[in-house]
Amino acid sequence: MLQKIAVTGKGGVGKTTFAALLAHIYAREGRSVIAIDADPAGGLAGALGFPREVAENLTPISEMEDLIYERTGAKPGSYGGFFSLNPRVDDIPDRYSVMHNGVRLLKLGTIEKGGSGCLCPENALLRALVTHLLLYRNEVLILDMEAGVEHLGRATAQAVDAMLIVVEPGQRSLEVAARIRELAGDIGLKRLFVVGNKVRSDADRAFIAERSPVPVVGYLSSSPAIIEADLRGIAVYEAAPEAVQEAREIVRRLEQEVERSS
Ligand SMILES: Nc1ncnc2c1ncn2[C@@H]1O[C@H](COP(=O)(O)OP(=O)(O)O)[C@@H](O)[C@H]1O
Ligand SMILES: [Mg+2]
Repeated sequence: MLQKIAVTGKGGVGKTTFAALLAHIYAREGRSVIAIDADPAGGLAGALGFPREVAENLTPISEMEDLIYERTGAKPGSYGGFFSLNPRVDDIPDRYSVMHNGVRLLKLGTIEKGGSGCLCPENALLRALVTHLLLYRNEVLILDMEAGVEHLGRATAQAVDAMLIVVEPGQRSLEVAARIRELAGDIGLKRLFVVGNKVRSDADRAFIAERSPVPVVGYLSSSPAIIEADLRGIAVYEAAPEAVQEAREIVRRLEQEVERSS
């Protein structure tokens, strides 16, 4: 059974939209779900239909200076000094997450990229937290991340059951997908799949299928209802029931693919 799913891809392709649909679908199946917002652009709370006051006031863990100091022994942004590389994190998911419609949301923030994965206290805390979430928590995890693998390392890659690269009909998102595949390969991530989003026609589907660097598990149609949800700040699964249906089909295909490859 699928447990840990990472969603990645170029900015604006629909990662957050699709991550919200996935989280909703698994929650509806009665599973415990934690959705992790690790995209610097954020927005997962809105897509999941959290009330605006909640969504706007969520501080990412990466910006919780007191917490970072308390757990690592160093102030965020301090380089080179001494700090704990395995800070305590097991209480963080429950303490700092919020729940709505059966989905638990944790806003993580992003890992600073600098060089070979900059050694600073906030990154140490985030890495430890991601490791904990992937290895020690028994729930469906949906990780909404940016177009890279910064939050993952060799040790955690094997705990990811599937990495979904969202693309849209267009060269650039497919180029980004190819780049992500390389990065993923470097850390030993297996089971990469593409989800084609914003498709308007069979020609769009064919465009993606022909160029995808990894197997395609399905498509989400371009939908005015999805745009409307974002405009009005309501949950994508409420505004766009057809998209939920399409995403269910993608989940079904994905589970088959993962089953086959394990
Ligand atoms: N299938 C779709 N049809 C129409 N608009 C979409 C679709 N998927 C996403 N969008 C819109 O595209 C924009 C970017 O989506 P988002 O999920 O925030 O992308 P990302 O997280 O990859 O940056 C949003 O305005 C969203 O409503
Ligand atoms: Mg996003």
